[in-house]
Amino acid sequence: MHRFQRKGGRLYAEGVALDRLADRLGTPLYVYSSGTIVDHYRRLRGVLRAVDPLVCYSVKANSNLAILSILARLGSGFDVVSGGELERVRKVGGKMERCVFAGVGKTQDEIELGLRFGVKAFHVESEEELDQIASVAGRKKGRRAPIALRVNPDVQAGGHAKITTGTYANKFGIPFEQIAAVYRRADANPRLHLRGIQMHIGSQITQAAPFRAAVRKMIPLVERLRGRHGLEYFDVGGGVGIVYEDALASGRDGWWKSLRAAKAMTLSEYATSLVPMLRDLKMQILLEPGRFLVGNAGVLVTEVLYRKETGRKHFTIVDAGMNDLVRPALYEAYHQIEPVGKPRPGAISTDVVGPVCESGDVFCHDRSLAPLEKGDRVAILSAGAYGFSMSSNYNTRPRPAEVLVTGTRAKVVRPREKVAALWHGEKRS
Ligand code: LLP
Repeated sequence: MHRFQRKGGRLYAEGVALDRLADRLGTPLYVYSSGTIVDHYRRLRGVLRAVDPLVCYSVKANSNLAILSILARLGSGFDVVSGGELERVRKVGGKMERCVFAGVGKTQDEIELGLRFGVKAFHVESEEELDQIASVAGRKKGRRAPIALRVNPDVQAGGHAKITTGTYANKFGIPFEQIAAVYRRADANPRLHLRGIQMHIGSQITQAAPFRAAVRKMIPLVERLRGRHGLEYFDVGGGVGIVYEDALASGRDGWWKSLRAAKAMTLSEYATSLVPMLRDLKMQILLEPGRFLVGNAGVLVTEVLYRKETGRKHFTIVDAGMNDLVRPALYEAYHQIEPVGKPRPGAISTDVVGPVCESGDVFCHDRSLAPLEKGDRVAILSAGAYGFSMSSNYNTRPRPAEVLVTGTRAKVVRPREKVAALWHGEKRS
């Protein structure tokens, strides 16, 4: 359930009208609902309470300090993939012993930082990385580096090709068959402290079956390795999908209806398929949700600049571009687009496109939308995850402001970038 709804025809984030925010702060504008994040965090913990999981929010989905501090206050842990993300978590007072450090290419500096800050564990993705971590720890007197190996369970999880991760055609993890030998090697190294085991099969997975298959495949291995090496935790990764179609739910029922329409698993289906297996393990369980916690908690508000008709197509040109939200251009991802004001009656078929000089700068193709006019605003929904965090300054476009709404209060949590700041540090030759 999320908290973007129409009231009197106008679109609201919690108790704040989006057009009022756009009047005040301009467009494009990211707007987040803090209540949605809290709700999703609690619901996830709730359905899995039988295993009392440590939720490690995957920071890459949205790393704004305001979002991180909401989650830190709720007691969340964090899954980071760079020194930069780790510094962000530290900045908001996130607990380092609840922080896991993942990523296929950690540099020596990043490993040092993780050790210095005292992360819960490094999630290791290759034998060479394992050696590197041991050697960095070896330079610090009496220091052991906490580690878990990332297992590639070789399970097809569906989803877009660019975001599947759990098969041997991907760069991620250590192949299932090699894991036992690598743990044995790691255990022989006095510089390493073996704490857990991790898997992650992909992102935007809307069915329970791939999760169930992967966990079922992992359990015998996890049990064996726990006995042999004293592992404390099993991390089942992230990947729980969200609703992108029909995402403008009117209350709880609307949200369920959208899930049904998309034939997507509900959260309790996810939980009931995993909990019995995980409970029997009697280990600490970690999860790494990113999109599920923040995806439906954000929208990108943009203004219609122009319209044009080519004879073959109708275009609606808006002031947000692929640099602000790249998912449609990069993954052909679907994002629902809704007028911010009261929708006009009727429908048009249009491509909503941005101002960036690329044919791929398109938010939707031939979409049936309520008629729009110059100056209207639309909200691109479900943009809270991998929206701002993947944005860029391509075409020297300052990135949008970000606003966090809590009830009737709206707080700018990152101001719109200033153009002059974009060449900061550059030198004329
Ligand atoms: N854990 C690991 C090891 C991951 O690689 C990821 C995501 C997550 C957790 C969080 O996955 P989530 O719960 O958010 O699905 N930019 C793409 C998604 C890339 C996901 C990368 N890894 C998109 O916009 O769809």
